[in-house]
Amino acid sequence: MAALPPPNDPSTDPSCSDLIAARSLLRFDPMAGLLMDGVPLAAIADAAGTPTWAYSAVTMRARYRALASAMADLNLDARVHYAVKANDSRAVLALFSGEGAGADVVSGGELLKARQAGIPASRIVYSGVGKTEHELRLALSEDIGQINVESAEELAMLSCLADSLGRRARVALRVNPDVDAGTNDKIATGRAEDKFGIPYADAAALYALAATLPGIEPIGLATHIGSQILALAPYREAFARIAELVAALRENGLRVSTVDCGGGLGIPYRNEPAPSPAGLAACMKAAFGRLDVRLAMEPGRWLVGSAGVLLASVVLVKQSPPERFIVLDAGMNELVRPAMYDAWHGIVPVSAADAIAPPVPASVVGPVCESGDTFARSRLLPPLAPKARVAILDAGAYGAVMSSTYNARPLAAEVWVDNERWSVIRDRQAIETLWERERLPA
Ligand code: LLP
Repeated sequence: MAALPPPNDPSTDPSCSDLIAARSLLRFDPMAGLLMDGVPLAAIADAAGTPTWAYSAVTMRARYRALASAMADLNLDARVHYAVKANDSRAVLALFSGEGAGADVVSGGELLKARQAGIPASRIVYSGVGKTEHELRLALSEDIGQINVESAEELAMLSCLADSLGRRARVALRVNPDVDAGTNDKIATGRAEDKFGIPYADAAALYALAATLPGIEPIGLATHIGSQILALAPYREAFARIAELVAALRENGLRVSTVDCGGGLGIPYRNEPAPSPAGLAACMKAAFGRLDVRLAMEPGRWLVGSAGVLLASVVLVKQSPPERFIVLDAGMNELVRPAMYDAWHGIVPVSAADAIAPPVPASVVGPVCESGDTFARSRLLPPLAPKARVAILDAGAYGAVMSSTYNARPLAAEVWVDNERWSVIRDRQAIETLWERERLPA
């Protein structure tokens, strides 16, 4: 694999045309400007206003099918549980439900949303370090397919609850394999020092204990080592450790029928080399192929990240030598990833006229009152006058779901693009709703 470019080195930035060429949903029309699956993004921005999220249903479907066939090609019995946290729009959930996916949820809210979107309870897996008693009761009463237990303490709580409700929880122990996924520190989850999963050394004993507890049926193991993972080696290492554990448990006479391999597959935000689902499938096959276990995975970003853009308008261009700031009407309250993880997102002009103007370096910022509200530094972009539109790319995952109303900015609209047609799937939040649940103190 070619070396990755260093993070945020502008000299290695792909050009706007390279970014568009590498994304099948986007095309530049010399008259209509930037198109998403044939729909002019300018028309969406005109009708829905900005900032607005636009998602390509065609891309989500194609990626789901590519992932499923990568597994099928290797004869892997692997179920896909879409990680709802990446984009929990009901349109997205219904699309994956229609494709036959299950859901990986991390809260009672996600569980209910997944059920409401038509995902059968039997295809829902519930992960997370802090499931409350109330949420565990909900999972038990819905009789979901699997609960990924992350601690001895949670196992004890679940056993009591299930027993008192006369239920039997199908449990996988989420194991922390102590593997560094080589991703941003804030989204690495499989190192011993991370809060996630059961310490590797404790897992075998806890599994044996689980088999004796009332209300608990241990069915297997789960792991998830992090997100935006751009190399396969950490997966290989983690899966090998989990496979070893499966063998050890079986030697002790315990039944292990399923392994949940988690999510984390990264996407090429900067057109950098990224692993394919076929590569991940090969890692799963190498580790578990001979173990006769049913496999599962929990992809989020890989399915939806590149399928979305955030449309924004230029408010003004501020000359502040030596800086030039392009100030957008979208900010960190919409897309927090650059502020939170120093994440790089492509930014491309929407209009045909802007696209052909010679690029000059600029910093692209939002209106929020924090210097961290910066989408890009020293980015080569056409000059862009006020009211010009840009699309911030690869914003389909961890975009709208992580938005806030900071600075009393209402949540942006969301638009669905499907086969040359589009529709609003979430209205822009009405400003009054920002304070409608507030009460002045007596
Ligand atoms: N399964 C579990 C247990 C998870 O915690 C996650 C993500 C996934 C699956 C899905 O991972 P994915 O395939 O999407 O990488 N907000 C961050 C990402 C946080 C990921 C949290 N857990 C970002 O914007 O990069």
